[in-house]
Amino acid sequence: MCGIIGYVGSRPAKEIIYSGLQRLEYRGYDSVGIATLGKKIKIIKAVGPTNKLDLDLVDATATTGIGHTRWSTHGKPTETNAHPHSYGLITLVHNGIIDNYQELKEKIGQPKLKSQTDSEVLAALIDHYYNSKNNLIEAIRLAISDARGTLGIAVITKDHPNQIVVARRGSPIVIGVGDKQNFVASDSSAIVDHTSKVIYLRDDQIGLITPNSVELFDMKLNSQEVSIETLDNNSELLDKGQYSSFLEKEIFEQPTSLGNVMRGRVGSDGSIVLGGPNLSQSEIQSIKRILIIGCGTAYYAGYYARYELEKILGLQVTVEHASEFRYRHGALEPESTLAIFMSQSGETADTLASLREAKRRGLKTMGIINTVGSTIAREVSHGGIYLHAGIESSVASTKAYSSMVVALLMFGAFVAYKQGRDASMTRKIAQELLALPNEVSLALENKSQIDKIARKLSKYDNWFFLGRGTLYPVAQEGSLKLAEVAYINSQALPSGEMKHGPIALVDKKHLSVLLLPEDQLLYKKNLSTLEEIKARGGNVLTISSRPKEKLSDFHLELAYSGEYTNGLIYNVYLQLITLAIATKKSLNIDRPRNLAKSVTVE
Ligand code: AGP
Ligand code: GLU
Repeated sequence: MCGIIGYVGSRPAKEIIYSGLQRLEYRGYDSVGIATLGKKIKIIKAVGPTNKLDLDLVDATATTGIGHTRWSTHGKPTETNAHPHSYGLITLVHNGIIDNYQELKEKIGQPKLKSQTDSEVLAALIDHYYNSKNNLIEAIRLAISDARGTLGIAVITKDHPNQIVVARRGSPIVIGVGDKQNFVASDSSAIVDHTSKVIYLRDDQIGLITPNSVELFDMKLNSQEVSIETLDNNSELLDKGQYSSFLEKEIFEQPTSLGNVMRGRVGSDGSIVLGGPNLSQSEIQSIKRILIIGCGTAYYAGYYARYELEKILGLQVTVEHASEFRYRHGALEPESTLAIFMSQSGETADTLASLREAKRRGLKTMGIINTVGSTIAREVSHGGIYLHAGIESSVASTKAYSSMVVALLMFGAFVAYKQGRDASMTRKIAQELLALPNEVSLALENKSQIDKIARKLSKYDNWFFLGRGTLYPVAQEGSLKLAEVAYINSQALPSGEMKHGPIALVDKKHLSVLLLPEDQLLYKKNLSTLEEIKARGGNVLTISSRPKEKLSDFHLELAYSGEYTNGLIYNVYLQLITLAIATKKSLNIDRPRNLAKSVTVE
């Protein structure tokens, strides 16, 4: 979704806001804007990325400002609809959706609005209350009490030149604490160059920010405690370095990020030490069913781990799309069900809504999250595991995916150990996990060979990704990567499903990526899938730890890394295939069209 940035201090706001917006583009943008508050409020806007803004028009001396990258929900991406929106004495930027904006328009007498957005209605509502109460904090409190939906807002007014007021309900806002200067943003990537001290606004909190102070209030305007946290990311993580894109950088960061998720947690003796999950021994013993819930790539990471957790724990493990789970009404046994929420950003609206539904149903809830202090991380009832993968800037998730799988495998071994299960199994898992970063490094060394084959595959416009067992969710993730980064139509299927219909799509223009498993029996079964496709003139790329089969048109060989982690090596190959094809097509690899990094609206 959109990105918000604000600055108040003694330096010119212009460059700080502009560079912050560039950092936030990964969150999704179709239009951008900056408002500075000097002698008066000056607003510039543009359709497209941040570099479309004409910075010469910005007041270069103003030391207070707010900015916004928009991911439109109400009104087309036009300059008029871009934020910041001004109405009367109020200028704001907004992340989220005001569901009852039409009703609010009625309430304030159909104000004359310039844009089609719900956000401008919110500005008009705040102005309405500001005029009657002459108190900005009270006006914002009243307005967000009337509003239904999600909001993260930053508000300025020329009546108070050195202040920004922020508020949140459902869309993240982080305050960066500096020396005689303060920052606000949708996430820390926009302010990590300036400070590592942050305050995460909670839902239904209002913040009053000046150059020398941060005050927080609840919805009754009671003063709230300000707790400052320290970011563990530093800004060089935010540069591409020698890589051509953040996607490439983050793919190659996986040996490091996988090391980070295991650091201090996995011992070669099979010990798994997890301080995050706060499940008592009796709660662990009581778990009979695990639900894994997430969206997109996070869902596929959970799907991969489902196969392994079933094996490790002998429990029923099901994976649910968050967008579906939140509206499901299946029977759940709260006392014996653990729901695990997967999310890189920790802000995905569907996942957060599912978490709240699971808690309402009395389930124990845990998070597998990358972004520290994010809403999901703070709302789960029984803690969880932070990935410590570092900021993932590319819209397409790569290092977070592999770390999510490892985090769940660690959790499985942790529970197995606590449940007194086979110690040799947990030792084997631990040793495989500890070897994984090096195995991934070795897989990455095949990039040039993979590039060569991938460039030949780029001529195909319709793909299948086929796999069995954990290679099926690996196929799903590979298919999503290709679609979202290289814009190629693809679908993933369990290999055995081809003959039940989809094989009708196979012809000489079609490509199937067949992930051939290590298991000898299943390998042979997959060879029949290969024969079925070839018999219909289809083209096949096979990937396995064995030499090329005569029938396959293209082949990539990989090194087997072990029973539990092997799928993550196939995954590296599929990530590199997508990277190579998107590079060949000169696409916007880190900011694919129509996508946002964190989908904080339904
Ligand atoms: C990842 O490549 C996709 N951009 C997307 O599917 C993402 O995984 C999904 O939106 C979930 O995001 P989250 O992990 O931040 O919750
Ligand atoms: N709903 C607002 C709009 O459409 C904000 C969207 C966003 O979060 O970027 O302008």
